[in-house]
Amino acid sequence: MTSDDPRQCAPATTRNRDPILAVLRSILPPSGVVLEVASGTGEHVVHFARALPMLKWQPSDPSREARRSIDGWIAAEGTDNVYPPLDIDAACDRWAVDHAAAVVCINMIHISPWAATEGLMRGASRILDPGAALYLYGPFRRAAKPIEPSNAAFDKDLRSRDPRWGLRDLDEVAACAGSHGFNLDGVVEMPANNLSVIFRRS
Ligand SMILES: C[S@@+](CC[C@H](N)C(=O)[O-])C[C@H]1O[C@@H](n2cnc3c(N)ncnc32)[C@H](O)[C@@H]1O
Repeated sequence: MTSDDPRQCAPATTRNRDPILAVLRSILPPSGVVLEVASGTGEHVVHFARALPMLKWQPSDPSREARRSIDGWIAAEGTDNVYPPLDIDAACDRWAVDHAAAVVCINMIHISPWAATEGLMRGASRILDPGAALYLYGPFRRAAKPIEPSNAAFDKDLRSRDPRWGLRDLDEVAACAGSHGFNLDGVVEMPANNLSVIFRRS
């Protein structure tokens, strides 16, 4: 990459993209447009798009630098089933997408105010058909399980950076999803004390 290359790299994506892909393969529909909320660098979306070419992928992120990076990864990889990134803030009531076959959101809800989680549920509920999947990935707190030391340290660091951030309680996230018409369909333990959480629009 040159110094004017807009592509950003998040080292964790190369570690978690294949375990996430394995879950996505089992829950996504055979065709349609998958909206990714909070695409970040764009490394995930080009990886998923290459592996699942029958789907169209719509990345998004409210950060201009992130969208430039996503554009850079799309151009560099030559993936033709990824649309240009959209400026979507999950917390806003207007999203630049009015329908999707599934919504994917990786590592956002603990690094944003709770309003972003509520907005994600509200927006996904607006654009998904009954039965469609809302997929979340990241670290969570769980009532029945002591928080892992690595996640406790991460939570402390997040809260010191912004008191509105921090690991979310899975039951609270599920309750929020339920209030927007989603049922919890599955929880998959992932490497490094993360979870895949799958909701279905009722
Ligand atoms: C830790 S990064 C995760 C990026 C990518 N999904 C990944 O796992 O590498 C968090 C991302 O959430 C985005 N974000 C923060 N608040 C958001 C919001 N309200 N709506 C949508 N995206 C948001 C940020 O711009 C950032 O790209």
